Amino acid sequence: MSDVVIEVKKLYKSFGGHQALKGIDLELNRGEVFGLLGINGAGKTTLIRILLGLLRPTSGNVSVFGLDPTRRAVDIRKRASLLPQECQVYELLTAYENIVYYGKMQSELPDKVIESRAVDLIRLIGLEGRENELTKGFSGGMKRKVLVARAMVADPELIFLDEPTTGIDVLGARTVRTLIKKLSKEHGKTVVLTTHDLTEINELCDRVGILVDGELVALGTPADLEEKFRSAHIEDVFVALVEGAV
Ligand SMILES: Nc1ncnc2c1ncn2[C@@H]1O[C@H](COP(=O)(O)OP(=O)(O)OP(=O)(O)O)[C@@H](O)[C@H]1O
Ligand SMILES: [Mg+2]
Repeated sequence: MSDVVIEVKKLYKSFGGHQALKGIDLELNRGEVFGLLGINGAGKTTLIRILLGLLRPTSGNVSVFGLDPTRRAVDIRKRASLLPQECQVYELLTAYENIVYYGKMQSELPDKVIESRAVDLIRLIGLEGRENELTKGFSGGMKRKVLVARAMVADPELIFLDEPTTGIDVLGARTVRTLIKKLSKEHGKTVVLTTHDLTEINELCDRVGILVDGELVALGTPADLEEKFRSAHIEDVFVALVEGAV
């Protein structure tokens, strides 16, 4: 089996006259945690949506598990899951029901397996004891945690997390980061995440790509980029690239 999970070549995406992605080239390997960095509007969500077949590229080649997302989105989504940037829980379901319901819809795993994975995830994410409450009464961060668990319940090979820790408190964010590490290091999952938290990139990501105005202007390990741009912190690399100083 090939170790390349995602392959993107000369990818362009325009919305009307506006070019959101301008010739992206990218290859991601199995088991990798890849961080996408970029300021608001840089193109991160657009790239993720194209990889899952939720948007059509304007031109270029994209393959996920060797499949073309414009034609095989259903097959890709059986093996990949997404925590969207803008997404709501079903407020009239409990936390447990939200996770189990989604898992049963998304995967062909036996119900019993989904149910026991949901119980494990609830514990891992720190919602134990609250799992049978309607999520209507949850705080924003608690709802986000339910959505993180939901994205992981069907045991996907590839997980896209679009700002997973936004709105989650410090402890919760740490829990989510630990979970992501565990999924990749112990279970070989491939994770693509976007974040505005540069500590998260340093702590979690094997490689990082920096998008500036639809172009991937830097790609490498956080340490590589710091060395290449002679900086002590990924944050300085990021700021310099965004401000066009390098
Ligand atoms: N459906 C759409 N219709 C028109 N323009 C869009 C659409 N989706 C995205 N865009 C535009 O494409 C560009 C990239 O947007 P995108 O949502 O990918 O940015 P992002 O990097 O995810 O930003 P953020 O950090 O704010 O989430 C923006 O200029 C945005 O206005
Ligand atoms: Mg976005």
